[in-house]
Amino acid sequence: MNSKQKVMTLDEFTIQELRNYPGATGQLSGLLRDIGLAAKRVNVEVNKAGIADILGEAGKTNVQGESVKKLDEFANEQFISSLQTSIYCCGVASEENENFIAFHDEYSKQSKYVVLLDPLDGSSNIDVNVSIGTIFSVYRRLSPNGSPCQLEDFLQPGTQQIAAGYIIYGSSTMLVYATRRSVQGFTLDPSIGEFCLSHPNLKCPPESDIFSVNIGYYHMYEQPVRNAIDHFLARNERDKIYRHRFVGCLVAEIHRTLIQGGIFMYPAFGKFSSGRLRLCYECNPMSFIMEKAGGVAMANGRQRLLELKPVQLHQRVPIFIGSKNMMDVWQQIVTNHR
Ligand code: AHG
Ligand code: MN
Ligand code: MN
Ligand code: MN
Repeated sequence: MNSKQKVMTLDEFTIQELRNYPGATGQLSGLLRDIGLAAKRVNVEVNKAGIADILGEAGKTNVQGESVKKLDEFANEQFISSLQTSIYCCGVASEENENFIAFHDEYSKQSKYVVLLDPLDGSSNIDVNVSIGTIFSVYRRLSPNGSPCQLEDFLQPGTQQIAAGYIIYGSSTMLVYATRRSVQGFTLDPSIGEFCLSHPNLKCPPESDIFSVNIGYYHMYEQPVRNAIDHFLARNERDKIYRHRFVGCLVAEIHRTLIQGGIFMYPAFGKFSSGRLRLCYECNPMSFIMEKAGGVAMANGRQRLLELKPVQLHQRVPIFIGSKNMMDVWQQIVTNHR
């Protein structure tokens, strides 16, 4: 970047966006700024995790049946409290809470948005200092403004998202979000404590050669998935060579896929017979971002993931997501299997 060029912060960017849309109320911009603030608070703890007694287990099990890490709990509290303190959201549903939380104060109840959260994604990476993230998704409420939000506000198909995004706490900390118009990426500049626009108008490369899937579960995957893995693994010098990556953090997989392209697959297997990743907190927001960046997201070989109607908050779903050329290969393999 040209050093003389003024770098735009997240706040400046969202405010400038408002100027382009005279009818806008500023609620979504306010919401994004709240999320940015909570992300900065979590980032501080992530960075000193090793010395601040925030590593390890919280000693509880969540509604997903997973053991909760201290950082899962901390991130959950930070994001919910930021959203509750401000006036831009009328309720939150989180991976870490069994039920959604409706905000009852007069200001929040007037807000037209609800937020769904995976406060800390990739928790198994926390203790080993590998990238982790946060995922969020924003919907316009269906229930009337002025009343507490309802379950139906959170159970809308992903196509109805107003915005979705993630924060990646990696070698640098970034906030990436999509609206119906575009995908924008901001990098945290620690010297001023602000997210600065670093990746404007992100587009997923339509061609790539990276595949990502947990091959450890190969024997439990259905035949088309095994066929896809076999296809991507070169057996001899005539085969096309693909590159394999698997980080164990959805946010990191999607971030890499947005920048370098590829396919990420998290199929159903064994005890996760409906998939492992959560539809409302993980797969819908990531599919929205990917589609807005020009990529493709499916729940199998045929079903567009964003069109699924959630029936419960914590439901899981298989996901296949990424660059057009790699998704074409996957869909062709499914078709050939029939
Ligand atoms: P979370 O930490 O929010 O519970 O999600 C973890 C998920 C996801 O990010 C990742 O892709 C997957 O778990 C990894 O699971 P496996 O290591 O079992 O494949
Ligand atoms: Mn979890
Ligand atoms: Mn997660
Ligand atoms: Mn999580």
